[in-house]
Amino acid sequence: MATESFVLKVTEVIEETADARSVVFEVPSELQETFAYTPGQFLTVAVPSDQTGLAARCYSLSSSPHSGRHQITVKRTVDGYASNWICDNLKAGDTLRLLPPSGIFTPKDVDADFLLFGGGSGITPVISIARTALEKGTGKVVLFYANRDQDSVIFARELTELSAEYAERFTVVHWLESVQGLPSEAGLQLFASYFTTYTAFCCGPAPFMKAVSTALRNLEFPRERRHQEKFVSLGGNPFGDVEEVLAAQATLAEADDADDEGEAEEPAFAGPVALEVELDGQQYAFDDWKGEEVLLEFLEKKGVQAPFSCREGNCSSCACVVLEGDLAMKHNDVLDKDDLADGIRLTCQGLPLTDTLKISYNG
Ligand code: FES
Repeated sequence: MATESFVLKVTEVIEETADARSVVFEVPSELQETFAYTPGQFLTVAVPSDQTGLAARCYSLSSSPHSGRHQITVKRTVDGYASNWICDNLKAGDTLRLLPPSGIFTPKDVDADFLLFGGGSGITPVISIARTALEKGTGKVVLFYANRDQDSVIFARELTELSAEYAERFTVVHWLESVQGLPSEAGLQLFASYFTTYTAFCCGPAPFMKAVSTALRNLEFPRERRHQEKFVSLGGNPFGDVEEVLAAQATLAEADDADDEGEAEEPAFAGPVALEVELDGQQYAFDDWKGEEVLLEFLEKKGVQAPFSCREGNCSSCACVVLEGDLAMKHNDVLDKDDLADGIRLTCQGLPLTDTLKISYNG
């Protein structure tokens, strides 16, 4: 069975900075529903590769859903094959194979007040949230945006324009490493301390996200108002034949002895599970899952169009919320302790722990 991916045409490639390009896709009317998204979500892109056939990468949508546009923004990274290929080769009229939007770095209520942190190209999902909140919501938006230097600020002009248009509701604080050095945890905490009732979203390099996360925890931001997005690089091939992907995944799993949050090798419960699933307004019920395969594969066998991207426990595209019972995970490189405490689990890694299980994909 082939995974469901789609070939879309590139209508525009925009040079945002010397190192960053935005890529706009044309989504035909018959795929509009499949490619509907919420601000903060990402697309999984297949970049052609001489060595491996293709390289799969997740790139956040920098456009906002209400614009009707599907735009990702990609920044070169040193030795980053896919980002360099996109920046060097992609042009209007080309086509790329994509998986539909996914991800859980999304606001539940666009009318909330938002405290946003973007580091470098981490601005990509953050500007989608900011623009949506300003144009469709009613709350205030504060953005702390850190960059290496002035020339590396992506969307500088648009942010200035939004600040002018929404002067009463939008504040941007630019932080330039070339001028101020790296932002410190204490400095970030002082900044955030003025906005402790806001809902926080953070995306950027790992040290930046760690500093922001610590600052917000110190200020006792509750879990439901603290969100962070991790950049992911996919080792497997979510575009290929499922059997091939599973074989590659097994090899990767053997090589990976990481001891991450909430992981388990074997199901603790081996009998048939009474399973209820809520997905896109539909209810499914099964009574014959024995944990011989992970939950995502079981649902696929049953014909359920469950979301996924990496199949490796790296991206959270397949995340569900456990409403009743529990699910162990073979590998988890994306959910933290708080996510687990909220009942979030990765179905691509999910094995049964209880004889009844009720999950929802609707968050
Ligand atoms: S599909 Fe990426 S974590 Fe499950």
